[in-house]
Amino acid sequence: MSNNVRVSIQTLSNDPFGTHAMLRETAPAALMPEIGCWLVTRWDDVREVLANDERFSPDTGGERADFFGGDKCLVFAGGAQHRRMRKILQASLYDPVIEDKLPHLVAQTVNEVIDSFGTRREADLYSEFCLPFSLRVLASIFGIEDVSDNQLKAWLTGLWAAADFTNEGDPTMQALAAETEQDLQAELKPRLRQLKLAQRDVLFSRMQTISVDGDLLSEEEAYANAKQLLLALAEPGELIGVIMWLLLTHSEQLPQRIDRRALLTAIEEANRYWPISGAAVRKVVSDIELGGHHFESNARIVYDVRSANRDERKWTSPEQFDARRHEGGNLAYGAGAHMCLGARLVRRMTPRVVELLFERLPGLELNTDRSPKFGGWPQFKPETLWVRWGQ
Ligand code: HEM
Repeated sequence: MSNNVRVSIQTLSNDPFGTHAMLRETAPAALMPEIGCWLVTRWDDVREVLANDERFSPDTGGERADFFGGDKCLVFAGGAQHRRMRKILQASLYDPVIEDKLPHLVAQTVNEVIDSFGTRREADLYSEFCLPFSLRVLASIFGIEDVSDNQLKAWLTGLWAAADFTNEGDPTMQALAAETEQDLQAELKPRLRQLKLAQRDVLFSRMQTISVDGDLLSEEEAYANAKQLLLALAEPGELIGVIMWLLLTHSEQLPQRIDRRALLTAIEEANRYWPISGAAVRKVVSDIELGGHHFESNARIVYDVRSANRDERKWTSPEQFDARRHEGGNLAYGAGAHMCLGARLVRRMTPRVVELLFERLPGLELNTDRSPKFGGWPQFKPETLWVRWGQ
């Protein structure tokens, strides 16, 4: 098995699935010279990286970790510090008062966004529905519902410039991140202070007032984790875009009237087939073998969820979207200690949104004159999804 295979970001962006299949077969650990990382593509290897955060540390150091506050932020922290902050954030996000409000918030937001279409019978479902829906629902849960969509989108662009590991060392992206940091210092920090005092039933209040084992988040930790949480603002919308695209292109696989159970299975298959969060980076703590390669400590590994979710060693006919697939869990939300904290929330929210879309937009179908666009690596987000209804 060769360890001399190199792969570029351009190749992965141009043909992710073909490149993954080739790498899984010939070089399950392949060097990415542009970013000095090793790409790991097989299911078993990706699971091993995710399951062992003591051997594969999320604390990769460098400008990304600095931007998000290093071990003050859940994503880069390990051991006891990670467990402590995670308990506080989990108890805050899944506070029964916040959870109870969710069904009403979701239905109300779906209806408001759809009402804004007026008498139109065509829309770009991604930019006109999925994205605004996601921003508004999460901004309400966080407690920043008065921040405009445009402001949230500008923060998201700057935050992703800092968070995307492929941007490290890029002066344009660093400048954008620095500008956003200044803005967040001026806008988000005072809001967090107000929300702590106001003790509202929202995440950014709760996470500063809930104590777990007598322990509160410090002001610096609250700021670092709030920036990290803002990164998730568009993610449920991106997933809803992917689900709608897959359901509309595979309608023959679904019953005439989709029931909740069938929908949940189809949504998990959408997560397997087209995970929006494609890959992330870890640092090797001490020498280890993985994917037929010997890694020395401090080597950087990128684990590719999109590839693992289509590994033929794990899945039957993985290149086929099968809305009735029952082959166990996939890695769209990660796994292990750092598994997505928002997964439960997203899993509760998305089926209802899909049901409401079909109810409110009868005869919903893709507009085949305008092909949907999805792009990027490591993220794999929808850009446009033109649909029509009531024809
Ligand atoms: C479809 C939507 C989403 C997807 C696919 C997704 C995916 C992921 C993945 C793959 C990770 C693991 C990253 C790693 O191992 O380095 C992660 C972590 C995380 N996610 Fe999500 N996410 C989504 C939505 C959300 C939402 C809505 C929230 C918050 C409300 C959220 C909060 C977090 C947090 C706080 C972490 C860090 C957990 C830790 O390090 O312990 N995510 N997410």
